This record gives sequence, C-alpha cells and structure tokens, in this order.
Amino acid sequence: MAKKTVADIEVKGKKVLMRVDFNVPQDDDGNITSDDRIVKALPTIKNILNRGGALLLMSHLGRPEGKRDDAYTLRPVAERLSELLGKKVIFANDCVGPDAKAKAAALKPGDVLLLENLRFYKEEVIKDKAAKEDAQLREAKDTFARELAAMADVYVDDAFGTAHRDNASMYTVPSVMEGKPRVTGFLIEKELNFLGDTIRNPSRPFVAILGGAKVSDKIGVIENLIDKVNRIIIGGAMAYTFLKSRGKAVGDSLCEDDFMDKALALLDQATEAGCEVMLPPDHVVVRKLAPGAEHRIAVGDIDPGWQAVDIGPMARKEFAEKIVGAKTILWNGPMGVFEIAPFDEGTKAIAQAVAQATEQGAKSVVGGGDSASAIEQLGLQDKISHISTGGGASLEFLEGKKFKAIEILDDKQ
Ligand code: 3PG
Ligand code: MG
Repeated sequence: MAKKTVADIEVKGKKVLMRVDFNVPQDDDGNITSDDRIVKALPTIKNILNRGGALLLMSHLGRPEGKRDDAYTLRPVAERLSELLGKKVIFANDCVGPDAKAKAAALKPGDVLLLENLRFYKEEVIKDKAAKEDAQLREAKDTFARELAAMADVYVDDAFGTAHRDNASMYTVPSVMEGKPRVTGFLIEKELNFLGDTIRNPSRPFVAILGGAKVSDKIGVIENLIDKVNRIIIGGAMAYTFLKSRGKAVGDSLCEDDFMDKALALLDQATEAGCEVMLPPDHVVVRKLAPGAEHRIAVGDIDPGWQAVDIGPMARKEFAEKIVGAKTILWNGPMGVFEIAPFDEGTKAIAQAVAQATEQGAKSVVGGGDSASAIEQLGLQDKISHISTGGGASLEFLEGKKFKAIEILDDKQ
C-alpha cells in the first residue's frame, strides 16, 4: 500500500523530526565533493518550512563506529545546507542531550536545526535482530530512539539511501512515535515510484547493466531481474567470476572462486528464462594496478600475470549498441577501476550510451555512487531519467526486498 507523505499531514506549528541521508562524499580535507543528497532533500525541507513547520534534521555521515570523531562531523553539511536554503541552519553539537534538546525546544516555525551525526552513538546501529535477542541492547536502542522522538510531534523519513537499514533513527524512532504522524518525504516517494514503476511496467527491450567488484553483492539482483529484463550486461571485476565459470582464462583478475558455481547456475537460469547475459569479449589489462600503469588490450583469454581493470573497446561497442537500442535501462556499478584514469573509459562509454538512449526516449534509472559520479563527471545528469540517491538501498529494492523502515510508516487511507 502507498505510504502517506508529508503532503498528507498538517505541519504548521509542529516540530518535525526528519531523517535524511546526508552521508555525502568528502575529500581528505572534509570538502563535500557531491551535494546531490542534500539538494535532493530540499523539496521536502522547503515544503515543511514554507508551511510553518519547525524542522529537526538528523542523519549519519560515514561509519564512525559509535564514538564521537570529528572527521565525521555534519558541520560542513550544515554550512552547505544553509547556502542552498539561503537561511541560517542551526547546528547542535550532539544529536541528543541537553544542547540538542534546548535548541529543539527553542525552534520557531520556519526554523531549521541539524543534529550532529547519529552514528556517534553505537545505539544508532544496533541491528533489530540483535535487539530482539538481547534485552540490554533493546533497552539501549529504545532509550536512544525515545530521546530523539521526544523532541518532535511528527516523524518524516526522506532518507532513501539508508532505507535498507534498521538503524534506530530509521526504524525505532518511528516505532516509538506510534500515534503521531509518521510519513515519507518527497524524495522517498519519488525513488519508490521510479524504481517500482521501472520494474513493474518496463517498455522493451529492458536492459540491466551491472558492474562492480563482487558477484556476491549482485546475486539477489540478478536472480530477481532474470525473468523481468531482456538482457543483462555485466562488467567490472564481477565479470571475471562469470567468465572463469565458463572456462575462460582470467589471469590475475579479481575473481570470487567460491561463487563460480553460483555464477554458472545464474547463467543457466538466464538462458532458460530467455534473458541474454552479455560478458565483455575484451579487456584492458595491467600487470600491477597503479595510476599510469602500463596497460594493453586482451581479447578473450587473459594471460597469467595480467589483471583486467576495465572493459575493452569491443565490449564498449557491443554493450553501447544494445544500450542505445533499449527502451528501459537500469544501471548499477562501474565497468572497471573507475577511480583510476584511464581505466574509467569503459564506465564513461556506458554513461554516454545510457544518456544517448534516454535522449532517444528510453527511461533510464541509475543507482550506486560510482555510476552516478561517472554521469556527473561527464555532465550528463540531466540526460538520465532518474539518478537514485541510494546505492545499497536501490540494489536491495531491485532484489525485491521490503524495507522495514518504510513499512512501519503510515499508510494512505
Ligand atoms: C550509503 O551511502 O550507503 C548510505 O548512506 C547508508 O550508509 P551505510 O552503508 O554506512 O549504512
Ligand atoms: Mg552503503
């Protein structure tokens, strides 16, 4: 059933506690390298402020392991948000405790407060399964959630990137706020509509492009997509587990030997379902991976001592042809070692093909940080139908999993 959104409730004069995913990428000096996740939360933020709500924003940043660590402060995010909103963003140096409580209590309609990183508390990341089995953990997670919940009258979840987690702020806070409005923001609504509709009503041909290092991360997605898509294009290091399972020589390429049987079974399953799986026919290979490493093209087998770091020119051409001919495209994961040029060429070629297909009328949905940043680097953002703010979350959605954190929110009547 569809979930209520912030548009369905009254926020005027209310304290609105909103979980966002401001887990943004940063460089070594803490500068935000993409503010996409902040920008995409703005419609919900502005809507609440314009309607006279007072907003308490909460998020995690990175994985600080349950203790305060200034390398993971959300302060730079407060500054960026303030620039984007053109108004002051109050910052609380802690997500709970006296300072947060006092600042929350003093909020007036139209004010916005950002709480410090939730993951400075280990309680935030206690898994619900562990909490069910251990009374002490349950008590700790609940107490933390109640402290956050006590500051507000309404709960809004717009943290799509974290929707697959049962963190305290995602799941326990709305649980303990039962009886108060608990709704989604516009970003979650949009993400669920786009991803859901793409899977349910695709125009054909429907092509999925999967990349990244590990087959083991993508098994669930492949299994769920096999009978939905016409074709799966596989690149990135995960391709070498598939190629090896088919008896190809992969040299020293990354390979998950433990998953070779599974890879072969997936290929058989796809053949039975009439889903074509395309693997790269050629590869960019190096002896040792480093910036500026000597590289060459290997067609078919890869010699011992060499490892694949990108798809080759033939693969780019073959893949691009099928992508450009598609009407629906899902893409998650890079084709090679995207962070080291020139081994980003394959990923960029795919990004260009996806943009071209979209210009010709295809619907394209991209998830995962690396694929999204390839598109950003090429300035192609506006040529993609939907770039998801979720990496892990969009993958789990494509696996057909349900999100507890969203299930618990109020249903539309
Ligand atoms: C992400 O970027 O994957 C989300 O913000 C969730 O973060 P996590 O994987 O550390 O839970
Ligand atoms: Mg993640």
